[in-house]
Amino acid sequence: MVDATELPGASKATSNGSGPESAADKTTAGSTRSGAPSGPRYAQIIGWGYEVPSKVITNHDLEQIVETSDEWIRTRTGIEERRVASDPQETTATLGLAAARKALEVADVHPSKVDLIICSTSSPEHIFPSTASIIQDGLGATNAGAFDLSAACSGFVYALSMARGHILAGDAEYVLVIGAETLSRLVDWTDRNTCVLFGDGAGAVLVAASSVPGGIIASELGSDGSGADLLIVPAGGSAIPPSLETVSSGNHFIKMDGKAVFRFAVRVMSDATKAVLARAGLSTDDVDLVIPHQANLRIVQNSVLKQLRIPEEKVFVNLQRYGNTSTASIPIALCEAIKAGKVKPGDHLVFVGFGAGLTWAACAVQWSVPTDRQEADWWRATRRQAGYQAAAARSMWRRAVRWVYQVWPDDPEGSPRRDIEPPKERETPLNGARGGDD
Ligand code: ACO
Repeated sequence: MVDATELPGASKATSNGSGPESAADKTTAGSTRSGAPSGPRYAQIIGWGYEVPSKVITNHDLEQIVETSDEWIRTRTGIEERRVASDPQETTATLGLAAARKALEVADVHPSKVDLIICSTSSPEHIFPSTASIIQDGLGATNAGAFDLSAACSGFVYALSMARGHILAGDAEYVLVIGAETLSRLVDWTDRNTCVLFGDGAGAVLVAASSVPGGIIASELGSDGSGADLLIVPAGGSAIPPSLETVSSGNHFIKMDGKAVFRFAVRVMSDATKAVLARAGLSTDDVDLVIPHQANLRIVQNSVLKQLRIPEEKVFVNLQRYGNTSTASIPIALCEAIKAGKVKPGDHLVFVGFGAGLTWAACAVQWSVPTDRQEADWWRATRRQAGYQAAAARSMWRRAVRWVYQVWPDDPEGSPRRDIEPPKERETPLNGARGGDD
């Protein structure tokens, strides 16, 4: 477990890098996943990072594509521009990997120490395998379990709640929670009702077991599947498997009843916030910062500001620049709020989101770690890079060994199969230098 002196910032003076001997790591030694938890445990967010594509699409750019206007988009949603993964090599996993690396770097925790990786996404790399497993391989997080979580835009907050549960149960010391999306690949760029709303990006946090009171102190999760058809990608699953017809009819794109989702969102954002505060024993006056799902400025205004009467300066909004990045919106906003100096140790934060499902989720967090992160020195950055190269080499080696077993016959007299292609050097987009943050 990480104790007070080991939280990032407090530990920098003694921590000598990202290797197994770092200060955070020392405290975990002897406290294994299987060992009974000793003393009270808390789930603290100790690392954070985000990644967005470099391509910016402004409202004026969209005016060239669909019948819309900058004025309509700004006044109806608050969005001014969004990032789009225009490079086919940029995917949900590459964005998630880059964000995850940054979160580990801030926490100064080696990937091999991570016990569990949860990737929340609605635009996964594939139906299976999970995007989380692909990120696990790219990180070289060789001791981690990994799975994807599907709860649309509420997913990141759901995943935080799962991370807290694993940590409080004593099943994990470090859980990496990632929200990553490339919804631009599921958007119908001829549908003005949806294409103006969404953007791509990823955010990640590292949650650690700690003896320091606070951290993720309460969560509230909800679902109403009777609204499943209000926001849906109809085809591609078992209900409507892919076919020429589903592709030609555009049923692999996002379909949304915007008005119904809007009404639902305003209601659940305020109800979920109230519920999680009650669970945490806090009132709205105790809240220092709300980080809502960044879907529409009017949803935030009608729920958090009007219904909960939380003042504007206590609500962080950055949807103007990123649009709705779905499950990535809250961790991206958290990183930007930290950078803007809006998060301090002792602060009470609320993360609250809603999305397809229909789903909603809120977490109350008592922030405990310093946010004035020190830049990695040359040696640490170089070691980190070497670690990523080693992870790529390890992945390649394992695939090469599997290939040899496939090609070589069990019968020693037989001849090797020539019909199986050897693994290519860049079989996935993660096999290059792409996705790096150093
Ligand atoms: N440009 C210009 N006009 C538009 C556009 C556009 N991009 N989109 C819609 N319109 C038109 C409509 O066609 C309609 O025209 P009509 O009156 O002639 O039929 C008119 O504008 C008004 O449309 P409304 O739907 O009433 O507009 P509204 O004020 O409700 O705003 C919006 C629409 C922005 C979609 C809003 O309903 C909304 O934000 N809903 C929530 C959506 C959301 O957050 N979804 C994500 C959930 S998270 C997840 O899980 C992925």
